[in-house]
Amino acid sequence: MRVLIAGASGAIGTRLAAQLIERGHEVIGTFRSPANAERVRALGAQPVALDLLNPRAVRKAVLEAEPEAIVHQATALANLRDFKHFDRSFAQTNRLRTEGTDALLAAAQEAGVRRFVAQSYASARYARVGGPVKTEDDPLDPTPVPAMRETVAALRYLDDAVTEAGGITLRYGGFYGAPNDGVLDPVRKRQFPVVGDGGGVTSFIHLDDAAAATVLALDHDGPGIYNIVDDEPAPAREWLPVLASVLGAKPPRRVPRWLARLFAGEAVVMMGTESRGASNAKAKRELGWTLRYPSWREGFLAAYGQAIQTDGRRSQPAVGTSHSAT
Ligand SMILES: NC(=O)c1ccc[n+]([C@@H]2O[C@H](COP(=O)([O-])OP(=O)(O)OC[C@H]3O[C@@H](n4cnc5c(N)ncnc54)[C@H](OP(=O)(O)O)[C@@H]3O)[C@@H](O)[C@H]2O)c1
Repeated sequence: MRVLIAGASGAIGTRLAAQLIERGHEVIGTFRSPANAERVRALGAQPVALDLLNPRAVRKAVLEAEPEAIVHQATALANLRDFKHFDRSFAQTNRLRTEGTDALLAAAQEAGVRRFVAQSYASARYARVGGPVKTEDDPLDPTPVPAMRETVAALRYLDDAVTEAGGITLRYGGFYGAPNDGVLDPVRKRQFPVVGDGGGVTSFIHLDDAAAATVLALDHDGPGIYNIVDDEPAPAREWLPVLASVLGAKPPRRVPRWLARLFAGEAVVMMGTESRGASNAKAKRELGWTLRYPSWREGFLAAYGQAIQTDGRRSQPAVGTSHSAT
């Protein structure tokens, strides 16, 4: 199949391009930063410079590429630091998820593209009531915290627009598996605390497993929404100390909600204390997806590799990772 990946130079885009090419597909990979043309070419994909926020350029790129499938993996999340002003930090990504999605869908329709798959998000989106793990049929949070309203609305817009057009959205868990994952530095520096009781549940997904699910989704008829998450949604009080230990860092600090709200903002408090995780049963059942890293416990070890062994020694990195977001 001839696949156009919008955002082929990013964390998930690079792995997806590599997996598609390995399976014999032809990939046209878009990038934004000029320095990334080579990264896309080195994967074996045909690099195309594209600003998704320019609809005319999107139309031209899609009509020229003549893809049979399009995957939207474009975000602007490199250098994400400020979670206190959540919507401000996500503003460009929100445009890519709304305006960028519209431009791609319009071009896809004009070019007669058969399959359309787009990146969505699972963790911290489902209603903060009832059990800790939610399926795609469970209601989304009807009252997101004010700091995240625009970001939550952009994700909902993307889910609706893509499925109404007959496509598939993949609600990925929190990505991990690259040496520059955003969570690593704060955990190493003890700047990522357990907030309150640490009961907020996160669903994670290793980037390689996320890419594998995306390859399968491209072979599947839409419309559809799938949680692409691992088997073990976990509260912060569980996963955070394990990650710190794998990184050889001191255990995370514990801070009360009021203090976290003051310094890190309400979105961080919500995610750390109330967020719900997601079930991957539908993706396994309908896409035939199996995970290489069913739990973040083994995935963190494989990805970051400096586990403190029971005998006190550190292991060597187990898995090489290729992506760098610089
Ligand atoms: N589910 C999750 O947890 C999740 C989801 C997304 C990202 N992240 C994390 O966020 C961090 C940054 O992600 P990333 O490395 O993928 O970088 P990123 O800056 O989010 O870029 C992702 C892709 O989108 C492209 N892009 C950016 N702006 C664009 C535009 N206006 N038009 C078209 N394409 C555009 C980028 O191109 P260029 O790079 O060439 O500019 C890149 O190919 C990573 O640690 C990643 O794991 C997590």
